[in-house]
Amino acid sequence: MTCIASVFKALCLFVLFVAVACHPTNRPNFFNVQRYGAKSDGQTDNAKAFTNIWKMACTRRGGNSKIYVPKGTFYLGGVEFVGPCTNDVEFVIDGTLLAPANPKDIKNDTWINFRYINNLSISGGGTLDGQGKESWPLNDCLKNTHCHKLAKTMGFSFVNNSRINGITSLNSKMGHFNFFSVHHFNITDVTITAPGDSPNTDGLKFGLCSNIHISNTHIGTGDDCIAILSGTTNMNISNVNCGPGHGISVGSLGKNKDEKDVTGLTVRDTVFNGTKDGIRIKTWESLASKILVSNFIYKNIQMINVENPIIIDQKYCPNPPCEKKAESHVQIQDLKLKNIYGTSTNKVAVNLQCSKSFPCKKVELIDINLEHKGVEGGPSTAVCENVDGSARGKMVPQHCLD
Ligand SMILES: *[C@@H]1O[C@H](CO)[C@@H](O)[C@H](O)[C@H]1NC(C)=O
Ligand SMILES: *[C@@H]1O[C@H](CO)[C@@H](O)[C@H](O)[C@H]1NC(C)=O
Ligand SMILES: *[C@@H]1O[C@H](CO)[C@@H](O)[C@H](O)[C@H]1NC(C)=O
Ligand SMILES: *[C@@H]1O[C@H](CO)[C@@H](O)[C@H](O)[C@H]1NC(C)=O
Ligand SMILES: *[C@@H]1O[C@H](CO)[C@@H](O)[C@H](O)[C@H]1NC(C)=O
Ligand SMILES: *[C@@H]1O[C@H](CO)[C@@H](O)[C@H](O)[C@H]1NC(C)=O
Repeated sequence: MTCIASVFKALCLFVLFVAVACHPTNRPNFFNVQRYGAKSDGQTDNAKAFTNIWKMACTRRGGNSKIYVPKGTFYLGGVEFVGPCTNDVEFVIDGTLLAPANPKDIKNDTWINFRYINNLSISGGGTLDGQGKESWPLNDCLKNTHCHKLAKTMGFSFVNNSRINGITSLNSKMGHFNFFSVHHFNITDVTITAPGDSPNTDGLKFGLCSNIHISNTHIGTGDDCIAILSGTTNMNISNVNCGPGHGISVGSLGKNKDEKDVTGLTVRDTVFNGTKDGIRIKTWESLASKILVSNFIYKNIQMINVENPIIIDQKYCPNPPCEKKAESHVQIQDLKLKNIYGTSTNKVAVNLQCSKSFPCKKVELIDINLEHKGVEGGPSTAVCENVDGSARGKMVPQHCLD
């Protein structure tokens, strides 16, 4: 009997061995986080469980892996998901990921960070809740340049060929989504929400990125809806609704050494509603980086009660006094603004203040119709400093180009 039993046992082990050895791809490719140790009680820190699940999903071979966050509230301390992965990973979030309310409980500068990954997909109807309210009063970055930085909600660095679809990001402590050295990335059907008076809660922020598509996205924040910084090229923004917030902002640029050109931006079919700025480019009075901002197209854009619908500010100085070493060395050229309409709460609806040393070149205005709707009364006006360009079609306010 014992003999038969041990033969049987050996046989079983052998079959198991063959099954494992010959079918390595049979390891699971679907990771419901709840089946892998995550708890949706809104209290247990799931950082360790998520990190382990990421490792399994990222290092399997053959086919895609899907990480699934079902409905429920999953409390999460800081996490970092690092590649490279041996396959493509899909993250589907239907539940809520809840950040620590106390900013001290997030050690790094990003709450949920992705690094060195290709072919990542994040989707679902879920929410990233940054719980920023408790930390906003601690933000003194306007007065203190060495201020303690609060965590951004989600970061991507060195990530290619990837996308986010359908997620909501709520009340980040500082920025909502940050992209650094990210190439070929699509953002669709995303909703970003924070109060208009919450400090530095940028919606989407990009540095050294290329081939980024943003569409069907709603952003309401206390800072830039979209911030486009040094070295970002070929960006395509359409069907975005921005407000409250500081608009779609290029810069600030020109203050730091080794900045790179920002070229190839298209913004179309977009609404700015109740924002401080609409279309904005800002550069410092500095010679630190002599770079180019060029090939921008803005078209079919509605402004609803926007303070500064169109503003180029090459004397950017958010907290005067600023050190003034030179006129801005950022060259702005090949800018086309077509079919921009709606209302401006400031009298100056079109404000083009370019650098004396590097005047703006080839600025083209076509069909601009921005009415003044503010306390002052009177029609809207335009300001031009050091700009060369042309205008045609309807022109309210009357343009002031040479
Ligand atoms: C914090 O950052 C360090 C350095 O980039 C990284 O190794 C670590 O995994 C991060 N930890 C968390 C929790 O994000
Ligand atoms: C990403 O997708 C591309 C194209 O489908 C494929 O060639 C590449 O191997 C994938 N990379 C990874 C890490 O899976
Ligand atoms: C990501 O894309 C950039 C630009 O195309 C490329 O230089 C870089 O090597 C890519 N990174 C990876 C990890 O594939
Ligand atoms: C991004 O969208 C464009 C246009 O819809 C598509 O061609 C491209 O493959 C998408 N890229 C990724 C990484 O999803
Ligand atoms: C932006 O999108 C438009 C329309 O979808 C397309 O014609 C254009 O080539 C795109 N630009 C870039 C830089 O991808
Ligand atoms: C603009 O914002 C106001 C106030 O939030 C809102 O009532 C209105 O519906 C918005 N208009 C559009 C066209 O989105």
